[in-house]
Amino acid sequence: MRPRKKRHLTERLERAFAILYTEAETFRAELAARTPEAVHLEIGCGKGGFTVQTAAANPEIIFAALERENNALVTDLECAMAEGLSNLMFISADAKRLPEFFEPHSIQRIYINFCDPWLSNKHADRRLTAPGFLDMYKDLLTDDGSVFFKTDNEELFNYSRKTLSATGFRLTEDFAEWLTDYEKKWIEAGRTIYRVGAYLD
Ligand SMILES: C[S@@+](CC[C@H](N)C(=O)[O-])C[C@H]1O[C@@H](n2cnc3c(N)ncnc32)[C@H](O)[C@@H]1O
Repeated sequence: MRPRKKRHLTERLERAFAILYTEAETFRAELAARTPEAVHLEIGCGKGGFTVQTAAANPEIIFAALERENNALVTDLECAMAEGLSNLMFISADAKRLPEFFEPHSIQRIYINFCDPWLSNKHADRRLTAPGFLDMYKDLLTDDGSVFFKTDNEELFNYSRKTLSATGFRLTEDFAEWLTDYEKKWIEAGRTIYRVGAYLD
């Protein structure tokens, strides 16, 4: 069941216009005008506070948070505005459009937290760790770039370890410390969280 549309969604999104990007050209121009130490990207940020916490702790890094559901995104946006973070940029788009928004080899780290598992083979190419997506990330990541991946789904985790390795990533136990909204719920429910840090160098 799809979540109910949030009240005053359009007006709330409009209020966040300064940090919300829907046009690739505008986003690229704004990013080019800044000189960050590095650019990190979260794909499928949901309404999670993960990006906000991570951005607040690392002001020298530009954090881009991409989400295709505005209904989820609006909570994260309002939280970022309340914190007054200038290093956070939100993109309302599907992950398939990432190459429109970023130059090749311009992202140092990609976070994928609790993405939808799409376990049926029919929908395997929708998994954010499917080979088609990983090839795309590889083109967007810097030479020392990494993908930090977390899930509570063991099947998706095992699949993702295989696809990451096959795409040329080196797998490690190194992962981000901040908890996402889903992660907090799953930890409270006593579920196992699977994490991997995958590096290109
Ligand atoms: C299960 S939620 C996890 C949210 C957040 N990362 C967390 O851990 O709390 C997965 C999110 O990924 C988003 N998502 C899934 N596929 C996507 C895609 N292809 N492009 C952009 N967002 C996507 C969904 O809309 C959803 O908000």
